[in-house]
Amino acid sequence: MSKKDAFTLTKKLDHVAFIMDGNGRWANLRGLPRYLGHREAINRIMEIFELCREFKIHVMSLYAFSTENWNRPQDEIDHLMDYLEEFFAKQIDYMDSVGARLQISGDINRLRESTKQACINAYERTKNNGNIVVNVCLNYGGRDDIVRAAKSLAKEVVDKKIEIDDIDEKLFADHLYTKGLPDVDLMIRTSGEQRLSNYLLWQNAYAEFVFTPVKWPDFKRKAFIDCLKEYQSRNRRYGGLKNE
Ligand code: IPE
Ligand code: IPE
Ligand code: MG
Repeated sequence: MSKKDAFTLTKKLDHVAFIMDGNGRWANLRGLPRYLGHREAINRIMEIFELCREFKIHVMSLYAFSTENWNRPQDEIDHLMDYLEEFFAKQIDYMDSVGARLQISGDINRLRESTKQACINAYERTKNNGNIVVNVCLNYGGRDDIVRAAKSLAKEVVDKKIEIDDIDEKLFADHLYTKGLPDVDLMIRTSGEQRLSNYLLWQNAYAEFVFTPVKWPDFKRKAFIDCLKEYQSRNRRYGGLKNE
C-alpha cells in the first residue's frame, strides 16, 4: 500500500450499501459483450470485501439483481446467474474461514434452481459467523420488501399474534429482509447514475449518498477510499442540530 492510499476511517460506519452499476457500459466501451462486464464485476466484490474488513465495516450490502432486472434479455440474466453461482462456489470457503456471514435479501424462489441452491448453501454454511455480514440483494426490490413486511404483519394481526398498536418502526424493520442489520450509513452508486432504483428504500432513510462516476468493474481501492473520504466529510444531522 502506498502512502497516498493510507486512510483512517474515524466516522461511525456500520453498514455500507453498494449499487454495483455500469457493467454493461464498461464492456461496451471496450467493444465487449455486456456479459463480460458482469464477469469483470464479480472480481471487484472480493476486493471491496477485503477493504470493508480492513476498515472494520461490519455490514456490506450488494445490489446484485433487482426485481426490475427481469426486464433484461434472458441471455444476460443467465450469464449473471452463472457468475453469481461461480462466485459463491469459489469464495464461500474463504469467506467462511474469515467469519463472514452471507445473507440473501430478496425472493430466491423465483431464481433458477441452481442459483437458489447456491444461495441456500452459502447462507446455511455461514449463518453462525459474526465478523462481517455480506448481504447480497438478489431479486430484491425495496417496495417488494416493504409490501412483504406489511403482509406478514397483517397476518400476525389476523392470527392474533400481535395487536395493531404493537406495530412500530422497530417491529416493521424486523419484518424486512434485513432484519437484525443496522440501517445503511453510506450508500454508494457507481457509474454516475444518481437514483436509488428501488434499493433498500426503508434502510436508506438516513444514509449518506455518494455517487461516483467510476463504473463498478473499475471500482477499486482508490475509488472506494475516495467515497469514504467524502462520507467522512459529511455532517450527519438526523434532523437535529448535531454536528457529527
Ligand atoms: C449493473 O450493471 C449490474 C446489474 C444491473 C445486474 P448494468 O448491467 O446495469 O450496467 P449498465 O448500467 O447498463 O452500464
Ligand atoms: C440497479 O441498476 C440494479 C443493480 C445494480 C443490481 P440498474 O442498472 O438495473 O438500474 P437502472 O435501470 O439504471 O435504474
Ligand atoms: Mg445499470
